[in-house]
Amino acid sequence: MKNTVLTLQKMKEEGKKISMLTAYDYSTAKLEDQAGVNCILVGDSLGNVILGYEDTISVTMEDMIHHGAAVARGAKDAFVLVDMPFMSYQTSVYDAVVNAGRLMKEGHADGVKLEGGVSICPQIKAIVEAGIPVCAHLGLTPQSIKAFGGFKVQGKSEEAAKQIIEDALAVQEAGAFMIVLEGIPSAVADLITEKVEVPTIGIGAGKGTDGQVLVYQDLLGMFSDFTPKFVKRYADLGQIMTKAFQQYFEEIQSGAFPAKENEYSIDAEVLKKIQ
Ligand code: KIV
Repeated sequence: MKNTVLTLQKMKEEGKKISMLTAYDYSTAKLEDQAGVNCILVGDSLGNVILGYEDTISVTMEDMIHHGAAVARGAKDAFVLVDMPFMSYQTSVYDAVVNAGRLMKEGHADGVKLEGGVSICPQIKAIVEAGIPVCAHLGLTPQSIKAFGGFKVQGKSEEAAKQIIEDALAVQEAGAFMIVLEGIPSAVADLITEKVEVPTIGIGAGKGTDGQVLVYQDLLGMFSDFTPKFVKRYADLGQIMTKAFQQYFEEIQSGAFPAKENEYSIDAEVLKKIQ
């Protein structure tokens, strides 16, 4: 059964943890969906792990639509959440609604995610009024790393923690159906999770949130440019893939591949006629 905003809200109410994972293509989305992941995030982290940028700033609407539509084709049951890229919603309420609409119509999203709190509430309200589910993203919001001066944990001072709590209450009031909390002290995430009625999803925010999200390449050991402390590696596919690629290379050199069973044959009589 397809997960919806109602399913995710019910999970919070019943104390069932929500699992969210990123995916950027059809095959991965299908595997995650079959594994029972509740929500697939087409994150703008695709800028890092798919496109090789240093950050998410350069990701475009076209990138998000292209990858969102591929994931949507593979996700039968999982709720598909697509990130609004940098400058697709900060510029105006009008831009935010138009671009959220494009992610739904062309990217086949079930909902959109955007970064920011109080300052972005007019955009959240307008998108929600257009009938589009919005997930807010607070704390270490990667689109603001230039302003933060790098990937730094947020909400550690009294003032900063109070601001994130205020942001969480404000985005809920504006209509957000879910809140991602990234890179903040666990105790602050726990407080927010208690204070808001909508589900919270943590990444580097401890175990007290209503759910967890990870970038799947981090979980599978496929991305080594940088590995934050909050990542847990469940497999080392990076090593397995490199080994398989090496074996492929060696077998081509040695002639072991392709073997007889990988070849197509032709009738001997036909062959004679074409020689
Ligand atoms: O882009 C992304 O993958 C994200 C998660 C890290 C929450 O926003």
